[in-house]
Amino acid sequence: MAQVQMPPSRAWKFHLDFEGIGWLTIDVPDAPVNTLSRETLAELNGIVTALEDMQQSGELKGVALLSGKESGFIAGADITEFDEMGDPGVLRAALDRAHALFDRIEALKVPVVAGIHGFCLGGGFELALACHYRVAVNDDKTRLGFPEVNLGMFPGFGGSGRSIRQAGPVDAMQIMLTGKLLRASQARRMGLVDKLVRVRDTLRWEARKAILQGRKSAVAPLAKRAMALGPLRGYVANKMRAEAGKKASLEHYPAPYSLIDLFEAHGNDWRAMKEGEAERFIPLMNSDTSKNLRRVFFLSEGLKKQGVRGKDKAVFRRVHVIGAGVMGGDIAAWCALRGMGVTLQDLDMERIKPALDRAKSLFKKRLRTKTEIDNAVARLEADVTGKGLARADVVIEAVVENLEVKRKIFADAELKTKPGAILATNTSSIELERIAENLTAPGRLIGLHFFNPVAQLPLVEVIRSRFNADADIARGASFALAIGKSPVVVKSAPGFLVNRVLMPYMLGAVQRVEAGANKEQIDAAAVAFGMPMGPIELMDTVGLDVGKSVAEELGNPVPANSQFAKLIADKKLGRKTGQGFYTWTNGKAVKGEVPPHPDLAGLGRELVQPLVNATSVAVAEGVVASDDLADIGVIYGTGFAPFLGGPLQARKDGRA
Ligand code: COA
Repeated sequence: MAQVQMPPSRAWKFHLDFEGIGWLTIDVPDAPVNTLSRETLAELNGIVTALEDMQQSGELKGVALLSGKESGFIAGADITEFDEMGDPGVLRAALDRAHALFDRIEALKVPVVAGIHGFCLGGGFELALACHYRVAVNDDKTRLGFPEVNLGMFPGFGGSGRSIRQAGPVDAMQIMLTGKLLRASQARRMGLVDKLVRVRDTLRWEARKAILQGRKSAVAPLAKRAMALGPLRGYVANKMRAEAGKKASLEHYPAPYSLIDLFEAHGNDWRAMKEGEAERFIPLMNSDTSKNLRRVFFLSEGLKKQGVRGKDKAVFRRVHVIGAGVMGGDIAAWCALRGMGVTLQDLDMERIKPALDRAKSLFKKRLRTKTEIDNAVARLEADVTGKGLARADVVIEAVVENLEVKRKIFADAELKTKPGAILATNTSSIELERIAENLTAPGRLIGLHFFNPVAQLPLVEVIRSRFNADADIARGASFALAIGKSPVVVKSAPGFLVNRVLMPYMLGAVQRVEAGANKEQIDAAAVAFGMPMGPIELMDTVGLDVGKSVAEELGNPVPANSQFAKLIADKKLGRKTGQGFYTWTNGKAVKGEVPPHPDLAGLGRELVQPLVNATSVAVAEGVVASDDLADIGVIYGTGFAPFLGGPLQARKDGRA
């Protein structure tokens, strides 16, 4: 057999076997996941030239493209390089090179088959779509999709056109617009994957078969493509715009709208769609929205680096939760969902039962098979006597905000738990030191402050008291990561971080309403600025009683003669009682017309000033260690406009 002349490469390995199959494996050195950096793409370019030569000479029968990494196929273009491509000319050249490269792969006459396991995202998925056939492992780890929209962009390596070609416009646009990741079986149903295998070991075998049989993926049938034909396309585009508008505004998040415009212009012709990408992609990637969303991505990656690493890495198997109220019950359910064995303690079964019922609904919503649901149900055990304490790796207390009750619980827990088990309180208002001070080892107690609804909010504040050592906090952060939450370490101080910054903002808005401002206008202004919900609606959602107690804790008691105090006295506590500042029906605030305002977003900006100020003070006072941590904590804890990169970033940019 002729000698294969492959250019040198760091990321790619090539081997031509006796059947003429070229095995091309990507394994980017010193990286946990494969990404397509400029260097990796340049290397691939050289390899494709060699493949073209080998195809000419007849020695190559086909190419199988695989990943050598456990983590998966390819997680997209290398986001760390995006900031260096601010010059539109440089970016355009990079996009053109990638397009030309993927087109050449597609133009190879021998079959090119992608064998996919694990993450196959963004540019990695686009590369797979440029192959002639796709085989994927149908297991829990495989995920395919286009998360670019979460970074304020859309696919830029030809994926918009190719996904439409394979899956038809409705499915393809849906995954690009939402960033939703697909399981292999879903991708197969959509036509984005051609063949499923059960385990990774059989990928090579199936890829070999596909090559030897010259299999080629079929494009979407006409019935699916019809939605992009003729006048229907404009109608479909408008529906998509309306759908996008429910989630994000054009002004704050332009990417979905720009993709829809591209579709409206070219959705009937996948090549034209592909060719039209760059022109719209370039301004998106250079937009403030995308830069800030990339910042949020990297800040959130930074949170994953906390916790105990290396050989001392803690393993958490059993969690004991004390208090089966809304928070305790939902924390227990979440831990069970994430695979921990959980005992949930309260005074009697009557108190625990509602939590178990809620947990079951959560499992049904989040898990796929009956076996998975049954297993999760079995992992969550009611525990009236507290027998779970002795076995627990983590104990979380979430009972009423009463110092004496909490002290008693931890005095008992300290005696009964095994050494090294984390003792944590979910208190939102009592100073940690006061709960811990009578313990034999007060440094064992940390705060793990979850947010309601637990299943939806990613943040856990890991509260540090003056008794804690770094190791105690690192273990707390490790646990939060182990249950899939994002930990932000916060010093024990009134309101911690999130309540401390939210309260002045919410109370400021309440004061305006009490002084005669229109509540609908106040809420609409905050949303126009970029908050997910207005402050008055948020106060109703949190509960006026809860708001009042947090306000007191922060030294801002609600004036006795205020409308706020009167609503509380009348048991009008917000959403949970059906009446607060708003009337609530079917879980929704009934709102009147928003009176016109010349600058709604400007008013919103005014409204968030107290939040931004409080965040700044929290950093200055060492409640949270850095601007970056404060920004990501406030984004995750309050929903503060991610496209602005966090309150402090927004202030630096002159936007808040
Ligand atoms: N570009 C650059 N770096 C990336 C990357 C990308 N597309 N995808 C992942 N990484 C890096 C992470 O920053 C992290 O780096 P670090 O170890 O130096 O912190 C490392 O790869 C591992 O990723 P991590 O997120 O810790 O692993 P995970 O298993 O929790 O999640 C992914 C894996 C792929 C789901 C997640 O990293 C992700 O969503 N990546 C972005 C995917 C994306 O948006 N692609 C489209 C780009 S246009």
